[in-house]
Amino acid sequence: MSRQILVTAALPYANGHIHIGHLVEYIQTDIWVRFQKLRGQRCVFVCADDTHGTAIMIRARREGRSEEAVIADMRASHVRDFASFQIEFDNYGSTNSPENRQLCDKIWAAIRKAGLVKTKDVAQLYDPVAGTFLADRFVRGTCPKCEAADQPGDNCSVCGAAYTPADLKTPKSTLSGAVPEIRTAEHLFIELERLHEFLNEWTQDGTHLQTEVANYLKGHFLGEPLRDWDVSRPAPYFGFEICDKPGHYWYVWFDAPIGYMASTLEWCNRHNENLDDWWRSDSKAEIHHFIGKDITYFHTLFWPGMLKSADCNLPRKVHIHGFLTVGGEKMSKSKGTFVMASTFLKHLPSGALRYYYASKLGTGLDDIDMNLDEFVARFNSDLVGKVVNLASRSAGFLAGQTLSHVYPDDGGLFASAAEKGEQIATYYEDCNYNAAMREIMALADKANKFVDDRQPWAIRKDPAKTDELRDVCTITLNLFRQIVTYLAPVLPELVKQTDELLHRPLADWSDSQTPLTGTSVSQFQHLMKRIETKQVESMIEESKEVMATEQGLTQQATAPVTPEPPIVVFHAADQWKDAGDALANEALAGECTIDDFVKIDLRVARVIEANHVQGANKLLQLTLSLGGGETRNVFAGIKAAYNPEDLVGRLVICVANLKPRQMKFGLSQGMVCASGSGGTEVFLLAPDTGSVPGQRVH
Ligand code: 2FM
Ligand code: ZN
Repeated sequence: MSRQILVTAALPYANGHIHIGHLVEYIQTDIWVRFQKLRGQRCVFVCADDTHGTAIMIRARREGRSEEAVIADMRASHVRDFASFQIEFDNYGSTNSPENRQLCDKIWAAIRKAGLVKTKDVAQLYDPVAGTFLADRFVRGTCPKCEAADQPGDNCSVCGAAYTPADLKTPKSTLSGAVPEIRTAEHLFIELERLHEFLNEWTQDGTHLQTEVANYLKGHFLGEPLRDWDVSRPAPYFGFEICDKPGHYWYVWFDAPIGYMASTLEWCNRHNENLDDWWRSDSKAEIHHFIGKDITYFHTLFWPGMLKSADCNLPRKVHIHGFLTVGGEKMSKSKGTFVMASTFLKHLPSGALRYYYASKLGTGLDDIDMNLDEFVARFNSDLVGKVVNLASRSAGFLAGQTLSHVYPDDGGLFASAAEKGEQIATYYEDCNYNAAMREIMALADKANKFVDDRQPWAIRKDPAKTDELRDVCTITLNLFRQIVTYLAPVLPELVKQTDELLHRPLADWSDSQTPLTGTSVSQFQHLMKRIETKQVESMIEESKEVMATEQGLTQQATAPVTPEPPIVVFHAADQWKDAGDALANEALAGECTIDDFVKIDLRVARVIEANHVQGANKLLQLTLSLGGGETRNVFAGIKAAYNPEDLVGRLVICVANLKPRQMKFGLSQGMVCASGSGGTEVFLLAPDTGSVPGQRVH
């Protein structure tokens, strides 16, 4: 009987784009899910955007739009990034969904009923100008210990001292620059200590957590009374208002893990399934959470505590991994090693990262170091040089023909590799992917030795040896396909290519156990290209630029908050075959610095009036509103391309600080931005829905 497995990866925050550090987890989890599905298990993989909290609220305010608009954009970006790395969720939800609200109410009611909620007054810093309580990271000031200026609210980056924001000398709110006040508000707490005995048992029973995690919890938390957990925030806060405490909201970490359930509920609703079959305490489903070590506490104490109180299914296992370092150091924005998922894809194939992470991931919590030379070498030598090489050295000789009808004698190669299947499967099951990759590459070495010994390219020269050639290629292609089956959880694209090459879908782990015979072989297409060091170098260079732009823009912002995600262009693959004429017709301008760029103040504007200009063949007169009564009179050379009546009401981008110029027809106080060669070929730039007049374009 197959297992019923529900898998989750941590819900990414909706205030930042996905980067290669995040991808360690999503790739790890996706591999595990694909493995379970390939083994015939009933496995559902859910995730969602984590949308609530102060950071999103502040970001929305700064961008002058609603939180819903911010999270909708970020969701689209996350979904795209995940899909382009072949991370395939069965449902991707949002914590800001009706399903989540409904489940939060239900779980809250159960926690209340269990008598675990109490109220306490909490004194917190408050920004009187921004009108909000301040989380630690929104306060900066002078370190109380070493007097270093401009230090964050929780610890000093110079001397390392830890403190509370109230300890800072001359504290300032990063939102408004105002001096924060201390204000007291009521907060709701869950008395975790009442669940101490249960948590002791659950964390220490040896099956739910890696041993080092269980020991860490025992040593750091469970040895003393558990502290009450503050689960509410007073208004203003972007989140769900607590049903029985108006004006107070659930803290983001309360509703975030419930998002796992809400996403399952969305999936259930689509598939006519019952949520209780997955999440009620009597369910047979195994719940597996994959998370990074920084959020251990939430998933191993709070979350099981909440589930237990609400009579829900507890996680079968919380799989915890380490962080990504690059070249032995934390990912660095200035060194270009803080690489966004979309930047990576502009330079390198997603499969390279999937394979590299698989080759590094083990069962422990150690950080995973990405060594860029090793990354290139491993892809080229293992995947191109060993795996794909098997197909490139044999498929071409059988193109348009069929594999032998009886599997030839290969000296036991296929059978002995088939025997390794269970060991490899155990490695996958245990998340010991690096051991699995090593085992698989050892099989690839043996298969390549077979090809080296039998030399199909030499046999081919002798017309009397057609059958032998077919047999040698049949064996090689079967060894190749067997290896691809073992690699299938890691490299779904290679699976598709192999299906096309050999006309037989590879859909089950058992495909590694029986050779294929008699099927036709397609014309050989290159399956993977070597990667060059210069691709990695250009990715690093671009990441530096992306981050420098971000830095510049953050410095410009009047209300700097946490570092902004970069503005990057998404490229799914080479699917857009745009011609190069436009670029060739107008050479790129010389380099400019970020300082040059920020001199030009581009703003969103609304055309509130558009008129023909008497005596002017090419010009239209536009009145642009920047909001708040601020307008610009602009003469734009767009008459051949636009009717004035079509323009009124639409949003455009204008250069708002261009020095006014006296023209024959009047004073021109700016420019509207457009592309195209002129005449009827003029295309006004338009901002996306959600933007409003007056917003600056960064
Ligand atoms: O640490 C984070 O990125 C959180 N957004 C993870 C939430 S996981 C779950 F509990 F929702
Ligand atoms: Zn200090």
